[in-house]
Amino acid sequence: MGIRNVTAVAACIVALAAGSTGAAHAQSAPPAAHGCSGCHGPAGEGVGTIPPIARTMGAAEFEAAMRQFRADQRPATIMNRIARGFTDAELAQLAAYFARKE
Ligand code: HEC
Repeated sequence: MGIRNVTAVAACIVALAAGSTGAAHAQSAPPAAHGCSGCHGPAGEGVGTIPPIARTMGAAEFEAAMRQFRADQRPATIMNRIARGFTDAELAQLAAYFARKE
């Protein structure tokens, strides 16, 4: 009886641990994305006149938009300055996080 309970509890802990690392891997925002939520909303859903960025574009399109902002080749009031703070690798991480899965 006692041993059975311990086994059940242990199984639960293993299941919880596996579940939480899985979720964190799939959903946690890369560090570069932390600064986006202040304007685009916690989930990138858009706020007021700030456009949504979550799942609105494919990854390639998202990355291209960010590169264009960075190179001053896309009309921007602020995103050109923000995009300048990121490396190509970070833009790829942002695209992987925000873009629509293709
Ligand atoms: C200070 C507010 C602000 C922050 C912070 C911000 N954005 Fe933006 N974003 C805007 C505004 C405003 C626009 C519209 C273009 C412009 O005026 O610069 C925009 C546009 C965009 C667009 C183009 C959307 C479209 O459909 O054309 C993308 C992509 C984007 N932002 C991504 C990001 C990412 C990724 C971050 C975080 C690294 C971020 N933004 C942080 C304000 C912000």
